[in-house]
Amino acid sequence: MKYSLAVLSALVIALCVLIFIMVRTHDARFNALETKLAAAAAEHEVGITMAWLQRWTDKLGRAADAGNWPLADFYLHEIDETAEDLIKAGVVDEGHDISALTRAMLLPVVESLESAVKARDAAVFDQRYTALIQTCNACHAATGHGQVQIARPSPAINPWNQDFRPAPAQP
Ligand code: HEC
Repeated sequence: MKYSLAVLSALVIALCVLIFIMVRTHDARFNALETKLAAAAAEHEVGITMAWLQRWTDKLGRAADAGNWPLADFYLHEIDETAEDLIKAGVVDEGHDISALTRAMLLPVVESLESAVKARDAAVFDQRYTALIQTCNACHAATGHGQVQIARPSPAINPWNQDFRPAPAQP
C-alpha cells in the first residue's frame, strides 16, 4: 500500500514536471512567432497606411479648393487619426523610427491645419497644405523613399467618383 502510494506520487510529480516543460516550450515558441508577426505587420502596414494618407491628403486638398470645409474637416480628422495610430504603433521600418518621425514632422503640420479649417481661412489653409505636402516628401527623403514624391492634387483632374462641392442644404 505504502509502496504503490509512493509510485503514484512520483508519477503525479513527473507528470506535473512534464506538463510544465511542455507549456514553457509552447509559450516560448508562441512568443517568438508573435514577435515575428508583429514585425511583419508593422513593415507591411507602413505602405498600406501611406496609401490611405495619400488618399485623404488628396481629398483634403480637393475639399478645401471647393470651399467644402465640413468635408475638409472630415479628411483632416482621418489624417490626424492615422498619424496618432502610427505614433502609438511604435513602428521601426528599415532602421527608421517611423513613429518618432511622424510625431516630430507630421503631427505639428496636421495640427496647424486644424485651426485653418476651423477658421475656414482659404489663404492660411493653402500655405499650411503646401507645408503638409512638403512634410510628406521630407519624411520620404529622410527614410530613403525620396522617389515617392507627393504633389498637390490638380483640381482639373478629379479621379474620384465624388463631388467635392459643398452638399446642398438639407430641407
Ligand atoms: C514618418 C515618415 C513619413 C511621413 C510623415 C510620410 N511618409 Fe509616406 N512613406 C514613408 C515610408 C517609410 C514609405 C515607404 C513604405 C514602404 O516601405 O512600404 C512611404 C511611402 C509612401 C507612399 C507609397 C505607397 C503607395 O501607396 O504608393 C505614398 C503614396 C506615401 N508615402 C504618401 C504619403 C503622404 C501623402 C504623406 C503626407 C500626408 C506621407 N506619405 C508622409 C514615410 C513617411
